Amino acid sequence: MEKFIKAALCATVLATTVSPAMAEDFPFEDQIEGRQGFFQMVKFNMGVLGAMAKGKRDYDAELAQAIANNLKNAAAMDNALMWPKGSDMDAKGLSDVTKAKADIWAADSDIGEKHKNWVAATNIMAESAGQGLDALRDAIGPLGKSCKSCHDNYKAK
Ligand code: HEC
Repeated sequence: MEKFIKAALCATVLATTVSPAMAEDFPFEDQIEGRQGFFQMVKFNMGVLGAMAKGKRDYDAELAQAIANNLKNAAAMDNALMWPKGSDMDAKGLSDVTKAKADIWAADSDIGEKHKNWVAATNIMAESAGQGLDALRDAIGPLGKSCKSCHDNYKAK
């Protein structure tokens, strides 16, 4: 039995590692999928606050606070592993897979600044969202801008 499990495990490992053509065609597929999934989650949470700000959804202080906390915590995550150098849209095989521009990894890249601004904006939102609709509305503009300002430079349309 133990032998069988070992053999089965080995076969699985081989099947997943011995596919050089695949790995070459789509390098960093998992990392790219991870970061895009991360941003989909961010977008979902932003959507809830956006709907409240626009009056498309009733303001609910408790929910707004919970969602703002999600965004603050998301921005604080260390996702460095999802952003390996070379996983940009100009890399071989990645033009249809990612919208990350190579400039992210350039020597003069200020993506760290953009990220810092985003963290700051999510912190302000977390202090504001539960304090009334006006406070939420004041915080959402700068927060949205912090997304856009990074996308403008580092994400293809
Ligand atoms: C520091 C830079 C930066 C910040 C800040 C940022 N993004 Fe992004 N975002 C990116 C990059 C780069 C990509 C492209 C990722 C890829 O395709 O590999 C991206 C992709 C996305 C995507 C597409 C995900 C997919 O399925 O392909 C969405 C949606 C998104 N971001 C929403 C947001 C929202 C909403 C905010 C703010 C609350 C935000 N982003 C803040 C850099 C940023």
